[in-house]
Amino acid sequence: MGDPWDGRGGGNNPKLPIPGKRNILITSALPYVNNVPHLGNIIGCVLSADVFARYCRLRGYNVIYICGTDEYGTATETKAMEENCTPQQICDKYHAVHKDIYNWFDISFDIFGRTSTPQQTEICQSIFKKLMENNWLSENMMQQLYCEICERFLADRLVEGICPMPDCNYESARGDQCEKCGRLLNPTELKDPKCKVCQTTPQIRDTDHLFLELPLFKEKLEEYINNTSVAGSWSQNAIQATHAWLKEGLKPRCITRDLKWGVSVPHDKYKDKVFYVWYDAPIGYVSITSCYTTDWEKWWKNPQDVELYQFMGKDNVPFHTVMFPSTLIGTGENWTLMKNISVTEYLNYEAGKFSKSKGVGVFGNDAKDTNIPTEVWRYYLLTNRPEVSDTLFTWADLQAKLNNELLNNLGNFINRVLSFIAKPQGLGYGSIIPDGSGAESHWLTKTLAERIGTYVGQYIEAMEKVKLKQALRIGISISSEGNAYLQESQFWKLYKEDQASCSIVMRTSVGLVYLLACVLEPFMPSFSLKVLRQLDFPIEKLHLIGNENGDLKSARKPWEFIPAGHKIGTPEPIFKELKDEDVELFRKKFSGSQADRVVKAEAEARKVAEQLEKTKI
Ligand code: 2FM
Ligand code: ZN
Repeated sequence: MGDPWDGRGGGNNPKLPIPGKRNILITSALPYVNNVPHLGNIIGCVLSADVFARYCRLRGYNVIYICGTDEYGTATETKAMEENCTPQQICDKYHAVHKDIYNWFDISFDIFGRTSTPQQTEICQSIFKKLMENNWLSENMMQQLYCEICERFLADRLVEGICPMPDCNYESARGDQCEKCGRLLNPTELKDPKCKVCQTTPQIRDTDHLFLELPLFKEKLEEYINNTSVAGSWSQNAIQATHAWLKEGLKPRCITRDLKWGVSVPHDKYKDKVFYVWYDAPIGYVSITSCYTTDWEKWWKNPQDVELYQFMGKDNVPFHTVMFPSTLIGTGENWTLMKNISVTEYLNYEAGKFSKSKGVGVFGNDAKDTNIPTEVWRYYLLTNRPEVSDTLFTWADLQAKLNNELLNNLGNFINRVLSFIAKPQGLGYGSIIPDGSGAESHWLTKTLAERIGTYVGQYIEAMEKVKLKQALRIGISISSEGNAYLQESQFWKLYKEDQASCSIVMRTSVGLVYLLACVLEPFMPSFSLKVLRQLDFPIEKLHLIGNENGDLKSARKPWEFIPAGHKIGTPEPIFKELKDEDVELFRKKFSGSQADRVVKAEAEARKVAEQLEKTKI
């Protein structure tokens, strides 16, 4: 039995919006290609979006989930310089690394593409031409930092200095954005700027550039933001970050850069420049969709039929609520604008912060090396999802959640039920689901079913609002209910004293096991696969717990989920205890110098690249 929601469409059979259905287009922020993603990046966007995409598939919505690597810009050029290779080689190498890691985390993209494609060039340039025709762009002289030692203009990330905001003053603010206060900056605004390559103080020089005239979008933008933030119930952190931008006053944003590695500007005067990476990156969502289907406009120019959900970390918000919508609105075409935005704060690691630029934190490939299975990592990251404030990764917390919640609660419930059913006749049911008729008038069971019905309703409500952590908590509560039910029923006594009631309890409990496999599938698909294999029963859409419209009144009851007479597979414990000594080992193993781990991650990247070279994929 494979992952039931994998192998989705694409190629010759891409999914397209179906009029009258809920058509959901999901994106997660395109990760920068030049880094090995860390756990903070994974929970911040790809994993969160994956849970929602899987939930949508489970509900029978028509959904595609788009992501890929963000490949252009200074960061890639710098990395290429460091590694003594071309930007294209850097992209090829790290794209494969990203793909590999997300694959290990069971992320079910419909396509995981990249931005350095002809499709990206074509769509970026065509949007640009429309912005130009419609007079949304202006030309302006810009002062830019030039490093005389490196003989180049220092764009965004190649400059570091003190954040100019008086309430911040962060010492290592980047030229494009301060990582501490999140504000967007121009490199020339930095106090005491330094070239990141040679550490000298750069000079200011004049060059001409093109600007998106954001002030002209003010009315249209405010209308879009005010309407959509209500209709799409934007989270507080998304609204705040957007309003902070609007409040500071919309300023023209420069969309060109003096670089080589980017989409070239189709304009005589600017043909030696490329688009700024934050102009082209969100267009990546569109171009990656166009690699998935030539009918991409059916997704992206169809606001009537398509709902766009976007997942990202909080530093990405203004680009998605202000810059990208303005770019699309400026074309004068009928684009599908974002309806719902899901924003995460930061996940910090034991001793401090994950930092892309400094390489601090646990990386995706470290997770794999621990031998802790994917479902446990996913569970831990999702219970710790930084939805409203920053959260902290600690090994002790991971151990507690695995041992108490997954092993003692969830795993224990499932194993207790299935191994009792699997016992030979006389001791159990010889693996055959018993009849269990009369459940509706069995008081304990009837009460349980009502409570479960309420939980399922709450689960659906939370998922629809993308409150993933809450939905997961509800899912686990179903397992706690199951354990309490087993305990109260004293089924081991009933087996001898009241066979009919024992059958009811077992048929209901096995139904709960199945329900758990379904509702937890978005969070832990590999767990669900194991349970389904042990049940020898296929996953169904959530119709089984609500009807097609989510109406729970006509929902089936837990004892009706799996038919009497069905033969289950072989039960096996699903979770393994994480011992104190393992935790200690991991803590040590991953507390080595951060640089060591980056080196290790990069060595891994090289291995993948060599492999690729050999197999010529
Ligand atoms: O912050 C980041 O990792 C960016 N690469 C996100 C880009 S999101 C989108 F616009 F592509
Ligand atoms: Zn700052």
